[in-house]
Amino acid sequence: MKAPQVLLVLLLTAAAADAQSYHFGKCPKPSVQKDFNVTEYMGTWYEIEKLPAVFERGTCNKATYSLLADGTVKVRNAELLSNGKINSIEGVAKVKNSSQPAILDVSFFKGVPGSPYWVLSTDHQSYSLVYSCSDYFGHFHVDFAWILARTRVLTEDVISKLHDELTTAGININRLTVSNQTGCEQTKGKIHQKEKKAEQSAEHIFRV
Ligand SMILES: *[C@@H]1O[C@H](CO)[C@@H](O)[C@H](O)[C@H]1NC(C)=O
Ligand SMILES: *[C@@H]1O[C@H](CO)[C@@H](O)[C@H](O)[C@H]1NC(C)=O
Ligand SMILES: *[C@@H]1O[C@H](CO)[C@@H](O)[C@H](O)[C@H]1NC(C)=O
Repeated sequence: MKAPQVLLVLLLTAAAADAQSYHFGKCPKPSVQKDFNVTEYMGTWYEIEKLPAVFERGTCNKATYSLLADGTVKVRNAELLSNGKINSIEGVAKVKNSSQPAILDVSFFKGVPGSPYWVLSTDHQSYSLVYSCSDYFGHFHVDFAWILARTRVLTEDVISKLHDELTTAGININRLTVSNQTGCEQTKGKIHQKEKKAEQSAEHIFRV
């Protein structure tokens, strides 16, 4: 199978595994963060809650963004697996239309179409609400959402505000799951070492 077909099969399998990520109709078109500044958005974001993404299995999930010389963004997602290994994947994100900077497209595999990365709401410094929705065959869509924070915890009032924003956008928050960010700092040294090893192993990157 060609790469796009593999991805589609993966997505369909993901949709089947979690029937609630699969919806009839087209993607909602929520409004995005005004005055979004990609430079200020760079750095580390920890995952606080998400709409289930079956390709994420671990704990301590985080994303690290860094601006490249050509204005695109290097993306590195990492998570801690139950066997103590770090699973990581690297990709590139791009703003497609500079008049809509909060709408990015992120791609993890060369030659495979990217996925949307819409920043619905962020203050750049503490929280971010990200939404990704893809239409398939004009008849259904698969969506993902992440509540991210600069720290491993986020206050309830901010989380509640972001839930309200999702609800307003027509996205069902009952499907949100809380990400496990405990037991991450204690093993920091160990994680760091393992991350280095993981980076050396290209095969590892594809074992998502
Ligand atoms: C974005 O943020 C950077 C860093 O704070 C700043 O230098 C730049 O002027 C900002 N860009 C816009 C368009 O506001
Ligand atoms: C970029 O976005 C602006 C504002 O939404 C829109 O008017 C314009 O057509 C877009 N440009 C392209 C190339 O899509
Ligand atoms: C979160 O992860 C830590 C470390 O992997 C584990 O000890 C803890 O039981 C987990 N907590 C929950 C609620 O799953």
